[in-house]
Amino acid sequence: MLRFALLISLVAGGLQAASASVAALMPMPLKVESATGQLAIDGTFTAVAAACSDARMEAALSRLTARISRQTGIPMGIGQPADANRPTLRVECVAAGSALPALGEDESYTLDISADGARLKAATGAGTIHGLETFVQLIAPGADGFQVPAIHLEDKPRFPWRGLMIDVSRHWMPLAVVERNLDAMAAVKLNVFHWHLSDDQGFRVESKRYPRLQQAGSDGRYYTQQQIREVVEYARNRGIRVVPEFDIPGHTQSWLAAYPDLASVPGPYTIGRTWGVYDPVMDPTIEATYQFLDAFIGEMAQLFPDPFFHIGGDEVNPKEWNQSARIKEFAQQHNLDGAHGLQAYFNQRIQKTLEKYGKTMIGWDEILHPDLPAAAIIQSWRGAKSLADAAAKGHRGILSSGYYLDHLEPASQHYSVDPLAGPAADLTPQQAALILGGEACMWAEYVSSETVDSRIWPRMAAIAERFWSPKDLTDVNSMYARMEAVSRTLEWTGVEHRANYGPMLDRLTGGQPAEPVRILADASQGLGLGPRARARKYTSLIPLNRFVDAVRPESESVRRLELAAARFLASHEAGDGALLREQFTRWAANDALFQPLAEGNALLAELKPLSKDLSILGGMGLKILDYLGGSQPAPADWISAQNQELTRIQRPNVEVTLAAFRPVRVLLDELARKGR
Ligand code: ACM
Repeated sequence: MLRFALLISLVAGGLQAASASVAALMPMPLKVESATGQLAIDGTFTAVAAACSDARMEAALSRLTARISRQTGIPMGIGQPADANRPTLRVECVAAGSALPALGEDESYTLDISADGARLKAATGAGTIHGLETFVQLIAPGADGFQVPAIHLEDKPRFPWRGLMIDVSRHWMPLAVVERNLDAMAAVKLNVFHWHLSDDQGFRVESKRYPRLQQAGSDGRYYTQQQIREVVEYARNRGIRVVPEFDIPGHTQSWLAAYPDLASVPGPYTIGRTWGVYDPVMDPTIEATYQFLDAFIGEMAQLFPDPFFHIGGDEVNPKEWNQSARIKEFAQQHNLDGAHGLQAYFNQRIQKTLEKYGKTMIGWDEILHPDLPAAAIIQSWRGAKSLADAAAKGHRGILSSGYYLDHLEPASQHYSVDPLAGPAADLTPQQAALILGGEACMWAEYVSSETVDSRIWPRMAAIAERFWSPKDLTDVNSMYARMEAVSRTLEWTGVEHRANYGPMLDRLTGGQPAEPVRILADASQGLGLGPRARARKYTSLIPLNRFVDAVRPESESVRRLELAAARFLASHEAGDGALLREQFTRWAANDALFQPLAEGNALLAELKPLSKDLSILGGMGLKILDYLGGSQPAPADWISAQNQELTRIQRPNVEVTLAAFRPVRVLLDELARKGR
């Protein structure tokens, strides 16, 4: 009887371990069946590729072992030779797949784990790379050390194009930033790195054919061709395609600083230092423009092996074309419909060049025009409608509208955006099949190499799930719980979205760790591109080292308090009440500790009113809890005064929002309801 009971509890323990590990999976696999038992992960861990072993697979397995070793602290892969007959993890694939990651290749895999070992099977190398990432996410500490749960898992992506775009023009992103983000991308099964390599503020690639591009257009900050090859190989090893973007004919002031003869209006030009849409654009009427771009694209086509080549095409300012009698006359002679017709003419010429070099055009949705060849892919950023319009006209498309990471929206908002929803829902199945997936965009006006990771991750993981996992996976609380779990493991891949938070806050206080600043930061959320642009005149020369740059786009701790507040109202759990009271007390006391730090400190001085408001929120929260728990009703005029105060406090200040207002708002609304 005793033995039977023990068995039951072990079984239950095994299932618990499985569900705990599954709770950390992101993107959620298509099908997960938990079994009983677990596989120990210890110093004997070995991973072997039984079929389709090639250099890429061997490199993936050795990265895997190093990562598990780093996670568990157990030395691995050193000393003892791998027992190829009884590996912990056996990887098999039917075929290695294409040497370069390719759009539409079979990325599916299955993973079977029992106490005896794990087996990962895939059709191609791409599938095995994804399966290895799932295996790592399943590793968790158990009663007897690290383990993975027994499980049967079948998985494949919903969309074949799952991307992240990083702008390296507005702020320079050194190679290490790119590579660590590629590691994190692989961890959540993204497969396209869209590299926004040129814009008004910088031209970031070495051209041997036109060296003034990097000499006059980059402030000396650009990637050499050797570095580009290194990144392409780094990405290939992780199953990620690299799609370069050279934005033309607008967003080209850095090109024009180097080659002013390409401009519609005579120069000279200098590289841009401010943000927005500039007047200067390339001249689409002169043959010199096309000769230059032919030679340039020919050179870049060699450097970037992916068959897709992004020509930008967004926000082409028509001003100079409309003001030029010469350009207008050209448009009339060629029967072109104004500026949009001129851009369509330009795109048709560029399309022929791309075709010559074996590339397919992709561009932002402004390139959509009746004359655009059907093969061109449309990247929809101004709204989901252009995606559906493009598909209705026979173009393949990807969605970026709704996935702008630089707007610093909550993960839940991005998660609710689906490439096949909205106007795309009315497409025929054939048209809908043209929608390849999506890309999140990290524009770099308000990020530096120090802050960019924290503006991409962990929210990117939630978007990656939208691109990979079934459409009906929409539970926001589950998403947040798994995103927060994955956020921690992502840091072990090398990305620094959490690592820089503490040091940046310490720097604000002159290098001293200061808890009151951290409490204020934990309660705050940074504002995105639009509100920041309205708050202050920025240029590329202004350092991004203020409080707003350190604080996160979304506060995990405030979200937890908001949930605790809702639960407290629903069920009056003492634990939730205590948690709220403890946090409100800390906020209430924080300002008295913060103000002395801010004396004589210019970086902290601007935060004085914010800090005061946090303490007001703390005091208000405590008082509301008192009213909710007591027998005295709150006076109506008191509630009304708090409402006004809360409305004031929730307005952004010093480019951040005091997210801490949210749990207080939940409680105050309930108090107001009770009072009625
Ligand atoms: C864009 O955001 N201008 C594509």
